[in-house]
Amino acid sequence: MTDSSKTATLTIDGTSYDLPLLSPTAGPNVIDIRKLYAQAGVFTYDPGYTSTASCDSTITYIDGAKGELLHRGYPIDQLAEKSHYLEVCYLLLYDNLPTAAELEAFEATITRHTMIHEQMHNFFRGFRRDAHPMATMVGVVGAMSAFYHDSTDISDPRQREIASHRMIAKMPTIAAMAYKYSIGQPFVYPRNDLDYASNFLHMCFAVPAEQYEVDPILSRAMDRIFILHADHEQNASTSTVRLASSSGANPFACIAAGIACLWGPAHGGANQACLEMLKEIGSVDRIPEFIARAKDKDDPFRLMGFGHRVYKNFDPRAKVMKQSADEVLDLLGIENNPVLQVAKELEKQALDDPYFAEKKLFPNVDFYSGIILEAMGFPTSMFTPIFALSRTVGWISQWKEQLSDPAHKIGRPRQLYLGETARKYVDVEDR
Ligand code: SDX
Repeated sequence: MTDSSKTATLTIDGTSYDLPLLSPTAGPNVIDIRKLYAQAGVFTYDPGYTSTASCDSTITYIDGAKGELLHRGYPIDQLAEKSHYLEVCYLLLYDNLPTAAELEAFEATITRHTMIHEQMHNFFRGFRRDAHPMATMVGVVGAMSAFYHDSTDISDPRQREIASHRMIAKMPTIAAMAYKYSIGQPFVYPRNDLDYASNFLHMCFAVPAEQYEVDPILSRAMDRIFILHADHEQNASTSTVRLASSSGANPFACIAAGIACLWGPAHGGANQACLEMLKEIGSVDRIPEFIARAKDKDDPFRLMGFGHRVYKNFDPRAKVMKQSADEVLDLLGIENNPVLQVAKELEKQALDDPYFAEKKLFPNVDFYSGIILEAMGFPTSMFTPIFALSRTVGWISQWKEQLSDPAHKIGRPRQLYLGETARKYVDVEDR
């Protein structure tokens, strides 16, 4: 990674500092500033981390200009077409695609960790029925630290692996329980005879009063949505998990922190906000009004599901999601879904508008996902929990990678201080 022949030279007040240039296997070179403060007594300033590499990683690579997303080198469109979610989980966790025997063993392990401690059912009952399922998930996942003490010793690689398996296995159960609780229906236990996506649909939509058969079209669409959300480099929620983990916090607390960060409408909450926006637009003749609002500097309104910090060409996940939306709605016989028509026309008009072209704003992963999820029967409040469920493998893989690096340190950024300098205390009677 470090090529001593390559350096960047920084000159401050006539003094020059040579900073090593680190060479990636793909992507831009990286200036190593770890010794900058010690050498030059200065900080760098990058509040949104637009130009900052917070770590090195071998898991996911994004080329925003080309619209490329690779997981351990495999393009997302190939994984979405040829793989399935648990195989992608194995790939993210263990560097390579599994052999048939490895995959069978991994799937058997995950399948047998899907139940949660029976006493945890009480946690759900402490929430109001109308609590957002993301609030429930943050609380219940954090509470796992109180139940799974045998996988919280992060210095033990075996405990780290068990915690990873538990998180991947139990998130669908927790998400489904949060949904069932919010609609006043009884919890449905996981079933070991169902695959991962079918199990989640069964836990969400089955009721004790009658048999529920999982529709293979929905199960395949669900699995593909899981794949498309699995990991995405150092996004806000993954960076939150890494920062929480850097203090030595247990894995369940770190994942709970990631869920909390993902909830925001600028991040994972955008899928819910996008469908609500499409419904507010309501018909194609109102699209110009909303595009004008999105362009108006004085209007805080933004097109939800549009734009991305990294992708400046197109989000490859959005392309796959759009194809999937067409497929699923057609197969479900709702191809004339008015919301889908509004979404397609909105995309077309926005991409024809110079404002969006100049600012390189394109549909992102959240633009079409809500249309599919609603067609599958999920309320908008379940869209972000499904994103969180899918991203758990990305969070836990990045958590595992960071802990496997013996040189990892606690994350502790500095600041550009603009406050008062030292001043004497004034007694209240003298103020
Ligand atoms: C996810 O990081 C990841 O990888 C995230 C994610 C993942 O898988 O983990 O990909 C998942 O979070 C996808 C993004 C979901 N969010 C949304 O769809 C919300 C709407 N989009 C945004 O708010 C925005 O585009 C962000 C947050 C996604 C990106 O913000 P940036 O990179 O900080 O860009 P910016 O806010 O600086 O915007 C640049 C310009 C601004 O105009 P100027 O100030 O330069 O004049 O573009 C404008 C913005 O006003 N702009 C938009 C817009 N997004 C940006 N204008 C209208 N509508 C939008 N959606």
